[in-house]
Amino acid sequence: MIQAVKGMNDVRPGAAEAFLDSAVWDYVTSRAAEVLNGYAYRQVRLPLLEETALFARGIGEDTDIVSKEMYSLTDRGDRSLTLRPEGTAGAVRAYVEHALGKTDAVQRWWYLGPMFRAEAPQKGRYRQFYQVGAELFGVAAPQADAEMLVMLNALCRHLEVTDVSVRVNCLGDAESRERYRAVLQEYLRGRASELCETCQRRFATNPLRVLDCKRATCRAVVTAAPDILASLSEASRVHFDLVQQLATAAGVSFVRDPHLVRGLDYYTGTIFELATAALGAQDAIVGGGRYDDLVAELGGPPTPAVGFAAGIERLALLVAKRVEHKDLAWWSGPHLYLAPMAGAEARAMALADEVRRLGPWRVEVDVSGGRVKNQMRRADKVGALAAIVLGEDELAKGAAMLKNLRSLAKGDDSQVQIALKGGELVAALAQLARER
Ligand code: HAM
Repeated sequence: MIQAVKGMNDVRPGAAEAFLDSAVWDYVTSRAAEVLNGYAYRQVRLPLLEETALFARGIGEDTDIVSKEMYSLTDRGDRSLTLRPEGTAGAVRAYVEHALGKTDAVQRWWYLGPMFRAEAPQKGRYRQFYQVGAELFGVAAPQADAEMLVMLNALCRHLEVTDVSVRVNCLGDAESRERYRAVLQEYLRGRASELCETCQRRFATNPLRVLDCKRATCRAVVTAAPDILASLSEASRVHFDLVQQLATAAGVSFVRDPHLVRGLDYYTGTIFELATAALGAQDAIVGGGRYDDLVAELGGPPTPAVGFAAGIERLALLVAKRVEHKDLAWWSGPHLYLAPMAGAEARAMALADEVRRLGPWRVEVDVSGGRVKNQMRRADKVGALAAIVLGEDELAKGAAMLKNLRSLAKGDDSQVQIALKGGELVAALAQLARER
């Protein structure tokens, strides 16, 4: 039997692991889309495969992603291509390629789709995972950074995801980072022997990466590292102060983490991460920040930008913890199940269409042609809210019994006679939905 590639999931209806249930995914992705559309971001759909050089230059050769996690291949034309490990580099590539700076430099984009990283799979960490992300191009003002934090706050609220901690930090402009680099190197030099092998190498080339190392020994060294705030230029400090003021005024709670650096090299200025204790080791649900140099580095005009990405699997894990399986059926199962006996099939299909036209009701018509008993068994199995058996009698009378399957499941045989008209059915379904 051929199985799915390790670390790659099948999201499907009725998955045993609730976080892989497509009902949970529909909930998370449609709520995220509502929030992002509400902030006037527009969806882009970008390629999954890009030239390897885009990520090597964009994310940085020294990062874990580029140095050890990329799925790269050589195509028939001998080009080195890579399955995107994240969405920002591709978004910038598209922004530059279509010369959007010339038409309207300010662009608000969002995206949703799979990303690929060859990490060791574990709960919350996969090799194909989904991100929903947003990028705002063309605004240097701190209001743009604050908009990201406010939007993320709204996203958590809309998903009813609680117990989220927001950490922010500022990497400053090039001058600030250069100054901090020297200060940090000086500090790390004194404790170089305590660092892991990778960090001993990084400390010379890219000392900020050491702050991001997950090893306990390196973390211990980092705890006492100097705070970047002291190295910030006046302009960076003023910018970062304003971001924090605006976010606070908008009701966002956050803490400043002096050692937050993020695992990608393109960041400048404000950076942030959202995490939750409810997820264990893979606790980061969102990461993002400013990357004012990337558009120019990838060949475009100097263009400030800021963005974030959230992991869908991790959001789905949080949502799945909250809902019970019977609720999942409510999210995804049919509201109405029509079970036609021989001769009533055409009327059942027409009636189902009438109901569907009247609102967002999900109606399943049993098309098995089987016995009523089996049809009703299936109605139960798919978690339908109500069911109607349609036979000759019902067609003649123009009325049938509407069975409330939720109360039936509790042993309470509740059914009402109802006229076979779309309007009446919808009113009855709405009533059942309220009582559920
Ligand atoms: P990132 O921090 O690498 O940032 O990823 C963002 C989120 O994607 C993480 O917080 C996590 O929820 C999820 N994620 C990352 N790797 C995995 C994995 N292996 N399995 C499951 N979920 C994962 C970025 O990707 C940046 N492009 C964010 C950004 C956008 N910055 C500016 N604009």
